[in-house]
Amino acid sequence: MAQTFTKVGLDALLTPENCVHQPLPPENSMSTKLDGLALDQLFRTARTRNGWTDRPVTEEQLRELYDLMKFGPTSSNSCPARFVWVRSAQGKGRLAALAAPNNAPKILAAPVTVIVGYDLDFAEQLPKLFPARGKDMQAFYSDPLVAQTTAFRNSSLQGAYLIVAARALGLDCGPMSGFRNEAVDCEFFANTRIKSNFICSIGCGSNENLFPRNPRLTFEEAGRFA
Ligand SMILES: Cc1cc2nc3c(=O)[nH]c(=O)nc-3n(C[C@H](O)[C@H](O)[C@H](O)COP(=O)(O)O)c2cc1C
Repeated sequence: MAQTFTKVGLDALLTPENCVHQPLPPENSMSTKLDGLALDQLFRTARTRNGWTDRPVTEEQLRELYDLMKFGPTSSNSCPARFVWVRSAQGKGRLAALAAPNNAPKILAAPVTVIVGYDLDFAEQLPKLFPARGKDMQAFYSDPLVAQTTAFRNSSLQGAYLIVAARALGLDCGPMSGFRNEAVDCEFFANTRIKSNFICSIGCGSNENLFPRNPRLTFEEAGRFA
């Protein structure tokens, strides 16, 4: 760890810029549990899709999706994920050509496939994203390994928020990591320090090639108390 953060008082955090996303949560932080149907839609009956109907996804829907998932937390509010929403026939062709053979037809069939990337220069945005001390934090992220770890970790989280937010908006997802990352970086992120993490088709899923749901680990298999 190159440097530890200095503590700042709450007053410094409560600047007008930091309070733009009103309303504040309730005092006691208690929220209502979502109903079973909502939990089904987000998790229990939601599936990874391999086939897509012709129903389009509008730009308005993609903007709504971004404006929802952007609130998912990232360390230092770094927001390192960057997105290329591939929706033109030409763009789909360029991306499909760099994907694994089983993924290419899915990219061509989906209304949109988003490339979830991460910007190794994400710290440049910290003065905007963390007005209270973003400028001071930039030194911490000048270490390339810290920047890479932070950007990859938090863009993966943001990709997961994207999937859950899409489901909340009634859209289906088909995440994929079977593609040539370096080739995608050259094709879509040339002359930047943005790297691809994974890609995710978005649309109205069909049941084509929908395999039976695979089991998950139980609570005990996946974890323990300490
Ligand atoms: C990051 C990530 C990468 C994935 N990569 C691929 C892929 O390249 N090709 C593929 O067919 N499925 C891919 N999948 C789909 C997973 O196999 C699928 O989400 C998992 O089996 C759970 O399926 P379910 O949501 O229907 O239960 C990927 C999923 C994730 C989250």
